Amino acid sequence: MTWVVALCLGLLLPLGHSKTVHIYVSPKGSDGNSGLDVSHPVATLDKARQLLDSSGIKGNTVYVELMGGYHNLHSTLHFTHAYTQPVTFRAYKDQEVHVTGGKQIPANLFTHVTDSSVLNVLPPSSRSKVLQLHLPSAGVTDYGTMSKFGFYVSRTSWLEIFINGLPARLAQYPNEKFLNLVSVPGGRRSRVFTYNSKEDARWVNEKEPWAYGFWYFSWADDGVGISNIDINKHQITLANDTNYGLRIGHYNPAHLAYADNQGGYFRVINMLSELDQPGEYYLDRSSGNLYIWPNTQTGTLSSSDVITVSLINDCISLDRGVSNLNFEGFTLEACRKAGITGAAVHDINIQNLEIRNLGAYGVSLSDSNNVTVSRCDIHYTNGGVNLTGGDRKTLTPSGNIVEDNHIWKFGRVGGVGYNAIFFDGAGNIARHNHMHDGQYTGMWLAGNDNIVEYNHIHHMCVNSTDCGGIIAGRDWSGRGNVIRYNYIHNVVKNMPGAENRGIMLDDQFSGVLIEHNVFFQNQYHTNIGGGRDNIIRYNVFYDAVNYPLNVDGRGILYASNNGTLYDRLRAQPYKTKPWSARYPKLATIDSNHPTYPMGNQIYDNVFYNKRGPNIVEYHGTGLNKTEYYDIHDNFNANPAEFWSPREYDFRFRCSIETWANQNSVPQPININAVGPRQPTGPKYIQTALPQYHSTVHPASCTGSIIG
Ligand SMILES: *[C@@H]1O[C@H](CO)[C@@H](O)[C@H](O)[C@H]1NC(C)=O
Ligand SMILES: *[C@@H]1O[C@H](CO)[C@@H](O)[C@H](O)[C@H]1NC(C)=O
Ligand SMILES: *[C@@H]1O[C@H](CO)[C@@H](O)[C@H](O)[C@H]1NC(C)=O
Ligand SMILES: *[C@@H]1O[C@H](CO)[C@@H](O)[C@H](O)[C@H]1NC(C)=O
Ligand SMILES: *[C@@H]1O[C@H](CO)[C@@H](O)[C@H](O)[C@H]1NC(C)=O
Ligand SMILES: *[C@@H]1O[C@H](CO)[C@@H](O)[C@H](O)[C@H]1NC(C)=O
Repeated sequence: MTWVVALCLGLLLPLGHSKTVHIYVSPKGSDGNSGLDVSHPVATLDKARQLLDSSGIKGNTVYVELMGGYHNLHSTLHFTHAYTQPVTFRAYKDQEVHVTGGKQIPANLFTHVTDSSVLNVLPPSSRSKVLQLHLPSAGVTDYGTMSKFGFYVSRTSWLEIFINGLPARLAQYPNEKFLNLVSVPGGRRSRVFTYNSKEDARWVNEKEPWAYGFWYFSWADDGVGISNIDINKHQITLANDTNYGLRIGHYNPAHLAYADNQGGYFRVINMLSELDQPGEYYLDRSSGNLYIWPNTQTGTLSSSDVITVSLINDCISLDRGVSNLNFEGFTLEACRKAGITGAAVHDINIQNLEIRNLGAYGVSLSDSNNVTVSRCDIHYTNGGVNLTGGDRKTLTPSGNIVEDNHIWKFGRVGGVGYNAIFFDGAGNIARHNHMHDGQYTGMWLAGNDNIVEYNHIHHMCVNSTDCGGIIAGRDWSGRGNVIRYNYIHNVVKNMPGAENRGIMLDDQFSGVLIEHNVFFQNQYHTNIGGGRDNIIRYNVFYDAVNYPLNVDGRGILYASNNGTLYDRLRAQPYKTKPWSARYPKLATIDSNHPTYPMGNQIYDNVFYNKRGPNIVEYHGTGLNKTEYYDIHDNFNANPAEFWSPREYDFRFRCSIETWANQNSVPQPININAVGPRQPTGPKYIQTALPQYHSTVHPASCTGSIIG
């Protein structure tokens, strides 16, 4: 035994002089301290970072022990070089540690509003509720600026305010839903439109009004400034163009019949006159006064409330080449841009963090390898994890893993383009994550050989259409992606526009293997948008709002994406090894009708379709050909033959079970086997993982089953 231990230590310490060093950091410490013992902590993470390069510490395994409290970063914590041994910033003894990009404001600096010019603008019901903070009196003078957001904008937020970890939102009208554009007198590419509301009489004194809308398509949102409001004509002039122009809207939440008549709806934001409910705020940049109706239980503020404003841009940034760096067990919050960002880094572990209240992605590391993001709880950000890495040309996997995370409400200010997880490159893995409540898509896959497995994905695409819980799109060469053993449900359509799907293979995306997943109550469970060589098998497709699957031949019908598809194909060495060996059907694409939906296979799935006997709905004519879509041996099930669908128990019974046994189709994966395997976030917020049990014991098969 002793001998074994000695041998292991010998392997770990080949040179004999690497040791373990602890550096202590406390908000109550002093940067004049050594930091080397718990009673002499330094005060700042940046001082600890500098100490990493000092003699006696450099070259060792280091734990930077963050002691309880609020560690406010005064500027981005910036790492510039690799470490030869692992360096870990972690919560000391699982204490409650917050690393913030802002500062806490004492509740007693908030006062009731007395200025009559402000009171007159506020709605009467808010006048006694709204509190005022003069930011310069709290030492805050950098308010940031309102800037474009939505639709893939990599944004830097303006100053925001969070109370007890909950974000406030800019005061808006309407509070829920949208107003339609009623006319667009200057045409699609103009900035002028009218609306049908007399609410605008309230807006005449607004200093910096903005608008947010899905102006033309229900899959493209823009936040944009307003340059003029004409309350006589009920007409707004925008300060800038929107991405796709303007159109008349037909949005009616009670009635989505104008399904294809998408876009053309908006709301106004950043309006003092609309500050009419708890959780709304407005910042007057000319006076430095911030007005807020606190979203606390009492509706007001007391000294026990933690009020934080965001001040710095990125919280943590990593220069090219940084490696051997770990972050563990604390809350990272209140930065105006990303949580942890960098490019060309490797061997980075981000574990058990809570990442929240940011202006951009929680973690965004591009062109990086061997990065692990695990057991984190990421929410109220604008994007969860964006990881790109690996080498597509050689099909070398990145070694990047995103696992056991809880990622929810990850599109906070603007929705489209802020995904729970975005992958590009080769061989990234997402497994055992729980992702839910997305305004637009949950996972976006690009590149090759990504694996998405054992995830629980639901309630995505909530505020948009033409969307999927998981999306991949417009690339014939993005082969080798696998989506398996996931539960995907409740991705439905709440807005006008094209359909939403559990999995969306958009614009001829090809070569995906979708197997062993359980889908239920999605608008469509999966579509194939005219792509090639996709295989869909061994899945449960239960009770879609429309059809289980929807397929088309968009590359035959129109060739609008032809240029991009060919560019992306020719950028890859698809005719030579290793590509030609790995993806033989891609190697011969040029001589096999590239734009046609060749080689898709849909078999050995179990489905229940209340609309009829077919598993597939064809969009377009002439598609029912086996060389396009080879559809066979799918079992059309009676819903009573699953164990207990409403309790997420899709075990096969009766004739499904008989068929499955005959065809060697395995039982579906148990819901308790998907999602995180360990509690997420820092110790102080961890809760037990959900466990599902079905209580229903269905009647025996004989006699009780129809058909
Ligand atoms: C509006 O557009 C102008 C260019 O026309 C640009 O300089 C400016 O940054 C834009 N403003 C915002 C808030 O996007
Ligand atoms: C993810 O990061 C890469 C690299 O910075 C960027 O090109 C890409 O647009 C980002 N993805 C999203 C969805 O923002
Ligand atoms: C990633 O880790 C693997 C296995 O440990 C190693 O072979 C590879 O070189 C690493 N890649 C990088 C870029 O560090
Ligand atoms: C969808 O938008 C509404 C506002 O219209 C917002 O309250 C809600 O949080 C959004 N949903 C998600 C999942 O972000
Ligand atoms: C698509 O692009 C290719 C290559 O540029 C061209 O040869 C082909 O004619 C195009 N197909 C259509 C339908 O436009
Ligand atoms: C597809 O074509 C076959 C053969 O013509 C026919 O039997 C089948 O009903 C068609 N299926 C659909 C979904 O139209």
